[in-house]
Amino acid sequence: MTQKKGQSSAELGVIGMGVMGRSLALNVMDRGFEVAVWNRDRELLDGAVAASGGRLQGCTDLAALVASLKRPRRVLLMITAGKPVDLVLADLVPLLERGDVVVDGGNSWFEDTRRRMRELAAKGLHFVGLGVSGGEEGARHGPSLMPGGSPEAYAAVAPLLEAIAARTDAGLCVTHVGPDGAGHFVKMVHNGLEYADMQLLAEGYHLLAASGLDAPRLAEVFERWNRGPLESFLVEISAAIFRKRDPKGRGWLVDRVLDRAEQKGTGRWTVAVALEQGVAVPSIAAALDGRVLSSRKAERVALAAGAPPRTLAKLDAGDVESALYGAKIAAYAQGFELLRTAAQSFGWALDLAELARIWKGGCIIRAAFLDVLRGAFARGARGGLLSDPALRAELEARAPAWRRVVAAAVQAGLPVPALSAGLSYLDAMTSARLPQNLVQAQRDAFGAHTFLFSDDPEGRPQHVEWLQPE
Ligand code: 6PG
Repeated sequence: MTQKKGQSSAELGVIGMGVMGRSLALNVMDRGFEVAVWNRDRELLDGAVAASGGRLQGCTDLAALVASLKRPRRVLLMITAGKPVDLVLADLVPLLERGDVVVDGGNSWFEDTRRRMRELAAKGLHFVGLGVSGGEEGARHGPSLMPGGSPEAYAAVAPLLEAIAARTDAGLCVTHVGPDGAGHFVKMVHNGLEYADMQLLAEGYHLLAASGLDAPRLAEVFERWNRGPLESFLVEISAAIFRKRDPKGRGWLVDRVLDRAEQKGTGRWTVAVALEQGVAVPSIAAALDGRVLSSRKAERVALAAGAPPRTLAKLDAGDVESALYGAKIAAYAQGFELLRTAAQSFGWALDLAELARIWKGGCIIRAAFLDVLRGAFARGARGGLLSDPALRAELEARAPAWRRVVAAAVQAGLPVPALSAGLSYLDAMTSARLPQNLVQAQRDAFGAHTFLFSDDPEGRPQHVEWLQPE
């Protein structure tokens, strides 16, 4: 341990030396800050201190960590979201003093963050709910950071966050997202969009593979896509994945991976919150369902018994690219609609263009497309991305190919839940008339729930005895 006893000189204390905590601590340290660290498991703590060449101050307990910090103290929690955060806070808070700042950098449920912020505020402590994206590499060399909390709390940690955030031609990938649980809410929606992006690429891969492309050819297609409008981190890593050989010599590694996706909960939260907020996010929901259905592997295998593999006779990779781009616009239109609605519900002044900007680098959904979104917001597309003329023109241009791809998949029996959900979303949102007049009539017929006449500007509720014979 390199802890200097009696010296309160460290500018940040980091609790939790798992992969993310250790990487962030090293990143902050590399930017010239003195960092003290603590972890319940001694092995991880020693590993982190060793990795820093002894420059991280390893602390033997929480009290020592707090004692090592300069006032006002800044403590970053990098621990598993949920109960562990409350348990650590229960031990940590009594050791802190008014004006100290606690930052939670995990993927915490934003309502938990709101509660913790209230609880700490009652003790004169600041709390920041910090969304961190970028995985180990991002945390170590430049993540995208989504801090939420009071302006004073943000000001106290801004120098640290700004020092470590990723940097793009659009600036630093950090901004004060908003008050309250806004940071963790925004990170949750980031993850929902991450789910949608990943599912869409998986569907594109599935179709191309069913049309006969093997892994090296898929890598070429994804590499080509990565030089066009789909340019993004996820397309880039997918191309790299297709190039990886099975170390045991059984062909391409991706073909050996069990097709059962896991999840930690942020995608599910996004869909649940969207339902509560009355915002349709069908592309994200389709991505979530895609993971859930994939997890029923044994049943799928049993139900597929004896069926021949499903193939596509002919598929244009350019059409798939167009379909994926159209579906990406649809998914982000939904995600940003959720952010806009939540901002109103919770009284947060979220700057959507700023969010597109800080997602341009560091994070998992980083993509050239985020510049397109910033452009749309700059043109004033605050009423929804589909209302932006340039995005709408893109969608119109890509819709024919998108429809061909979805139709071919449906014909072949290949599931494309996110590609088709996005298309139906676009079609619904651009239909002046939908069949919900029948739904309203049905509701009134069986439950006297009333309906409105479409030509009644005053919107007076009507009820008719629909089931009485004419
Ligand atoms: C990030 C990621 C990260 C998330 C993983 C796994 O932005 O760095 O979103 O926070 O934990 O992507 O998430 P799932 O296990 O739910 O796929």
